[in-house]
Amino acid sequence: MTSTLRLAPSILSADFARLGDEVRAIEAAGADLVHFDVMDNHYVPNLTMGPLVCEAIRPHVQIPIDVHLMVEPVDALIPLFAKAGANLITFHPEASRHVDRTLSLIREHGCKAGLVLNPATPLDVLKHVMDKLDMILLMSVNPGFGGQKFIDSTLGKLRQTRALINAHRGAGGQEIWLEVDGGVKTDNIASIVAAGADTCVAGSAVFGAPDAEGGYRSVMQSLRNAAAQR
Ligand code: DX5
Ligand code: ZN
Repeated sequence: MTSTLRLAPSILSADFARLGDEVRAIEAAGADLVHFDVMDNHYVPNLTMGPLVCEAIRPHVQIPIDVHLMVEPVDALIPLFAKAGANLITFHPEASRHVDRTLSLIREHGCKAGLVLNPATPLDVLKHVMDKLDMILLMSVNPGFGGQKFIDSTLGKLRQTRALINAHRGAGGQEIWLEVDGGVKTDNIASIVAAGADTCVAGSAVFGAPDAEGGYRSVMQSLRNAAAQR
């Protein structure tokens, strides 16, 4: 369990015709990160946005842009996203031939680096790269689409990952954020945070519940209040 909770609305569920307004609105509502889902119709069966869109939204917000790469191969996109203003870049280990090299490449480009584990991906892949991680992202749905149902076995996996991070910290290791992505709602965020997440992505939960004037203050506050009920 952790004391700070970061909320990362996924703009996958935003109005793409008004992305500048949408990212400004989530920042005004207290978002900690912009979660930016990159899909390539190869690693996942969907196609979204690339570095040009990242560059276009960058001037609209101060908060970090959290780029989640669902692409294969990975490496060629890293310099492009770093140049486009990404702050964190995460990727799926099975999409890179050389995971250690890709993590180093992200950091060499001045970004924080992380690995994303699908629901069926074991935690073993983390073992030899813990010192190169700024973030571990656990998928709580299979990647490719917003609006899917949270997979409950993620809770046990979160607890195990939290224990790994705490052991790493206890041995003098660097800080590592633990993010969850997929199906996060007001009715399950408390158990997600209690299981050890400190960063929650929420796409459809946020962008599907606008305030009367189009902002997202009330849903963001509801997520924080619900998380505090743990
Ligand atoms: C799924 C994406 C998620 C997605 C989450 O592949 O990585 O970030 O947008 O959407 P919700 O919160 O609607 O499950
Ligand atoms: Zn994502």
